[in-house]
Amino acid sequence: MKRVYVWTLPTRLFHWLFVAMILGAWISTNEDRWLSIHVAISSALAGLLLFRLIWGLMGPKYSRFNDFNFSISALKTYLLGIFNPSRTYVGHNPAASYIMIAMLATVALAIISGFLAYGIQENRGILAFLHTGAFSEMDLFKEIHEFFVNVLWVLIAAHIGGVMTDRFLHASDRTLTSIIDGHKNIEGESATLSVLQKIVAIIGIGGSIGILIYALSVSNNPLIASHTPKMDYKKELPLFVNECASCHTLYPPTLLPKQSWTKLMGELSNHFGDDASLEPADTRSILEYLLAHSAENSKQEMSVKMMQTLQNRDIIAITQTPFWKRTHRHIPIEVFKNDRIKSRANCKACHSDVEQGTIEDNAIKHITIKG
Ligand code: HEC
Ligand code: HEC
Repeated sequence: MKRVYVWTLPTRLFHWLFVAMILGAWISTNEDRWLSIHVAISSALAGLLLFRLIWGLMGPKYSRFNDFNFSISALKTYLLGIFNPSRTYVGHNPAASYIMIAMLATVALAIISGFLAYGIQENRGILAFLHTGAFSEMDLFKEIHEFFVNVLWVLIAAHIGGVMTDRFLHASDRTLTSIIDGHKNIEGESATLSVLQKIVAIIGIGGSIGILIYALSVSNNPLIASHTPKMDYKKELPLFVNECASCHTLYPPTLLPKQSWTKLMGELSNHFGDDASLEPADTRSILEYLLAHSAENSKQEMSVKMMQTLQNRDIIAITQTPFWKRTHRHIPIEVFKNDRIKSRANCKACHSDVEQGTIEDNAIKHITIKG
């Protein structure tokens, strides 16, 4: 029987790791608090992609890019003759060649735009130095990222569609099973690996898995580290903590604009039905601190978005702002009535870092209706 070794072990390992990591990256977008996991997997995916690029240049026959068939006339002949049972391709057929390159390029663009979004919007990761707060449209790179991910789904569908078509039209070639055991039942020259290729494969694939383990297990590593400083309000202004955290969460000054803080501090004697009034000197120094660190003066995503959505309204309750309502719209009312929370204003029940002035995705506690 005709039999040819098409996909060597590194190419097959690449394929299945690529599948697993894309699935992992996709699943980890389910919850905001899993964002660091999403970035860890995507970093490993970047390493895997780099390996595939090198493999495309110096890998074995059929896996090398110069073995891919990009000629337009070949693509035409292939598509027109798709039902021709005698037509076989040992490596990638012309249509598959285009889809393969498009997939690799799309994943690369998705990763780059993802790290841009993570740096610019979240002030995290290796591109955090790009975070300026000057972007009026902070979500831009997130939208570009999502665009490439959608393109990727289309390409994956086309790839699976192509393989399935081949399975029905050329079942005896074993194209589908070839990515598991490496062999196709076609006439051709088998691929072999040189020592150098083996070494490159071990470093490339091992390196990608290494990145994954590193990014998941080392806390605060550069790939996911936040560059938003944690505030120690007790050190900054003890009075603020003593007076404003005695009845509830210490709300970060960066969450409301000057106008709101001025109004709130001017009506402390009737503060949400409570009397929270202070000595005039204390009121003044707290107000001064709040104004110096208000939303206008912060580059944090939450401050920028608060300002954009609040416009000129002088709302003093964070939970009444359009931004807060929008970010919490998916949480069922019953969750806020839960015994451990009791009030929407009890931010620290869900955001373990709020009293240090940040609201990081990975610091959101998972709370259900029951507790
Ligand atoms: C005597 C208790 C008390 C003190 C002291 C106090 N507050 Fe409050 N504060 C409340 C209550 C009660 C609410 C309403 C909370 C709710 O809706 O569950 C509130 C609500 C707030 C809110 C709105 C929360 C929301 O719903 O988004 C802000 C902002 C706030 N307080 C700021 C301050 C600041 C700043 C200080 C210090 C100057 C302060 N509070 C001191 C009792 C207090
Ligand atoms: C019942 C738990 C709960 C309470 C209480 C709560 N939050 Fe949240 N908050 C969440 C969850 C969950 C998310 C993520 C929502 C999502 O993206 O779907 C979130 C998101 C946010 C975000 C957006 C973070 C980001 O990067 O996307 C901000 C800002 C925020 N909360 C501030 C607050 C403040 C301020 C308070 C108190 C006034 C508060 N939250 C009270 C659960 C809570």
